[in-house]
Amino acid sequence: MFAQQYGPWALIAGGSEGVGASFARKLAARGLNLVLLARKPGPLEQVAQEVSANSHVQVRTASMDLRAADMLDRVRAITEDIEVGMLIYNAGVVSPAPFLDRSLERNLQALRLTVDGPVILSHHFATKMRERRRGGIIILGSMSSFAGSGNFVVYSAAKSFDVTFGEGLWYELKPYGVNVLSLIIGLTRTPKLMSAGGAELAQKTGQPLLEPDEVAQEGLDNLENGPTWIAGAHNREMAAAYHGMDRKTAVQTLSGNSNI
Ligand SMILES: NC(=O)c1ccc[n+]([C@@H]2O[C@H](COP(=O)([O-])OP(=O)(O)OC[C@H]3O[C@@H](n4cnc5c(N)ncnc54)[C@H](OP(=O)(O)O)[C@@H]3O)[C@@H](O)[C@H]2O)c1
Repeated sequence: MFAQQYGPWALIAGGSEGVGASFARKLAARGLNLVLLARKPGPLEQVAQEVSANSHVQVRTASMDLRAADMLDRVRAITEDIEVGMLIYNAGVVSPAPFLDRSLERNLQALRLTVDGPVILSHHFATKMRERRRGGIIILGSMSSFAGSGNFVVYSAAKSFDVTFGEGLWYELKPYGVNVLSLIIGLTRTPKLMSAGGAELAQKTGQPLLEPDEVAQEGLDNLENGPTWIAGAHNREMAAAYHGMDRKTAVQTLSGNSNI
């Protein structure tokens, strides 16, 4: 059933570690073949081998930078002979720093990954999904999308874009049988977060760390409950609190909590 609605292939942009790898395992268990994209070939191959050893699905990997100008050409080349019925845009950068401490180019690179990437791949794959009248798209959002956030100035703005982009797409594609979900997550125990000081952040702010498997499971379980799903009961409570705040308080609280 799931594979008929969302298969036969799923493409995961950022499918080699953490949340992306959890999605890969769970989609393979539901019978979807996988295309996994990320930069480092090692983790990509590791996930591909693990999935192949534990299921009968096919797995393709491509080592690429999603920020590159030829990204869509490379994605087209690796998917031109297959039907992609599910797109998961997971790649993002979780790395706090004051806006002016990063070069302009680095800030713009973050936009290419977090804003251009989901627009480019959604436009490409949703065109066919709409024609087929079935399919699914999950775009990873963040708790920092609720307001501006110090130390995450570009990141929080880009994640706000991701969430509202996914919501609008949900409205347009729902009549065609294509389910879109903006999946908002908070602190999650991924290799990227841990190397950016995630354990200390969780301890300092008293926030629980979600596990990548929980996040992926909630995303798949709520794919048909769009436009938006917030993973984790604690995050849902915090989101409700943010929505009740005036903007100044929300920005100050979000920045103080280092919500990401
Ligand atoms: N972890 C958290 O606490 C947290 C909180 C809120 C929101 N989020 C969001 O949730 C998503 C996943 O979180 P996460 O980043 O912690 O990681 P993750 O799921 O562990 O991994 C990110 C994946 O994206 C790939 N990736 C990153 N930059 C890329 C690039 N330029 N080109 C191609 N692939 C790239 C990574 O592989 P390579 O590095 O090898 O390219 C990896 O496969 C992100 O969108 C993030 O913004 C995370």
